[in-house]
Amino acid sequence: MRAIFSLMTLVLIALPPVAVVLSGNALATTDMPAQAATCLACHSAATSAASGAPQLAGQQATYLQKQLQQFKNGQRGAAVSDVKGQQMAAMAATLSADDINSLARYFSKQQAEVITSSADAALLDQGRRQYIGSCGACHGAKAEGNMAFNAPALSMLSADYITLQLQHFKTGLRGKDKADKPGRQMALFSRNLSEQDMQAVAAYIGAGMP
Ligand code: HEC
Ligand code: HEC
Repeated sequence: MRAIFSLMTLVLIALPPVAVVLSGNALATTDMPAQAATCLACHSAATSAASGAPQLAGQQATYLQKQLQQFKNGQRGAAVSDVKGQQMAAMAATLSADDINSLARYFSKQQAEVITSSADAALLDQGRRQYIGSCGACHGAKAEGNMAFNAPALSMLSADYITLQLQHFKTGLRGKDKADKPGRQMALFSRNLSEQDMQAVAAYIGAGMP
């Protein structure tokens, strides 16, 4: 744990401040599982840019549960090249099945803070067309997610995190295991995306889908 936090401090010091706009409600502290404060050291709206950890507030509970199980069983975050995933896998290893359920339930009920980054108008326009054409059918018109397709919300995620995950699906760091049907489905959709497509669609979602 101490190693993780000193690493985090390094990350926080090394990164230049990013221009982000924060707004919205603070997380409720009633019914907060004991570990949630630890999670928020990396996963809050204020810390997520520096840590590379996505906001969990407002995410679909079953999706959060599935990811935590996958970090624990090695389907996500096991590869040496997946530096961020490995950090999270070390955290997930300490969680019991009950912890996973209560943390997933807790974060899904919180309201995400709006974090928006700015981007070039032409890139946003390309991203918008891409989102409507190839993502919205599963992830929802407002990127709110749709569990009928096992598709998580994307609206609270940063452009950098989205780009990294699309690259991971494309290179097989996520969505490779035969038993992981939702992951395999997403991996299939990432295959047609060029690096430029990924940057554009991630910039569009990260900018709050203007
Ligand atoms: C040291 C920082 C750190 C801490 C503490 C931490 N995480 Fe993470 N977590 C990350 C990073 C970084 C990622 C992104 C990994 C990647 O890029 O695949 C992540 C990813 C996740 C994901 C996947 C989310 C998604 O949208 O796919 C879940 C769920 C998660 N963490 C839950 C938790 C919970 C619950 C806790 C507390 C018990 C916690 N994390 C503590 C750094 C952290
Ligand atoms: C056929 C339905 C489908 C389509 C189309 C689709 N996705 Fe997904 N996506 C999924 C599913 C299912 C998951 C969850 C995978 C898992 O459980 O690991 C996912 C996961 C993701 C994630 C990971 C989120 C996180 O919190 O880590 C990102 C980012 C993403 N999709 C972006 C996109 C983008 C951008 C597009 C359009 C270019 C797109 N998806 C098109 C079904 C889809």
